[in-house]
Amino acid sequence: MISVVVLISGSGSNLLSLLKKSENPLYPAKIVAVGSDLDAPGLEHAELYEVDTFVVRPELFSSKEDWAKTLLANVQHHQPDLVVLAGFMKILPANFVSALKGKLINIHPSLLPDFKGAHAVRDALAAGVTKTGVTIHYVDEGVDTGEIIVQTEVDIEPGDTESILHERIKSVEHELLGSTIEQLAYKQKPVLR
Ligand code: GAR
Repeated sequence: MISVVVLISGSGSNLLSLLKKSENPLYPAKIVAVGSDLDAPGLEHAELYEVDTFVVRPELFSSKEDWAKTLLANVQHHQPDLVVLAGFMKILPANFVSALKGKLINIHPSLLPDFKGAHAVRDALAAGVTKTGVTIHYVDEGVDTGEIIVQTEVDIEPGDTESILHERIKSVEHELLGSTIEQLAYKQKPVLR
C-alpha cells in the first residue's frame, strides 16, 4: 500500500475518482491528504471522505520559493510515497520539484509535448487537430516537460466545445490516473525510490 498526497486547484473530479477507488481494500494506494493553493471546490470531496486537507496561498508569501517551501512542508508532513498533481494549476518552483523528484506526477489534458500549459483543451480545439488526449508524466523543473509515463488518445468530434471535450477527456483521465497509480504501486517503480 502506498500513501498518496493529491494537490488540486479546481473541481477535483480526478481526486473524487481516486477517493472512490481507494475505498476498495484491494486498491493499493491510500490518499492521506489533499492540498491546494486556494479554496478549491474539490476540497469538499476530501472532507467528505475524512481525508486531511491543507491550503497554502501564494499571495501570503513574499516569494514563490517561500510559498513552495511551506507547501512542501505540508506535503512532507504526510510522508507520501507519491504526490499527484490533479488539476493543480500553479507552476511549482525548483525547490519543490527537486525535493520530490521521482515521486511527483502530473496529469495533463493533451498528448504532450503538444499543447503544454493551462489551456490545453482550448488550444487543441483552436489548432483544429482531430485527436488530443491525456498524458501522465513525472514532473521536472520545466512546464509539462517531464518524462512521460503513459498517454491515451481522445478523438475530437465535430461540434465539440471546450467543455464537452474536456468532460470527455476527464472521463479518460479518471481511469488512466487510477490504473497508473495502481501500476506504480505494484511495480515499485522509481516513483517509490
Ligand atoms: C484535468 O483535466 C487536468 O488534466 C487539468 O485540469 C483538470 C482538472 O480537473 N490539468 C491541467 O490542465 C494541468 N496543466 P479536475 O479538477 O476535475 O480533476
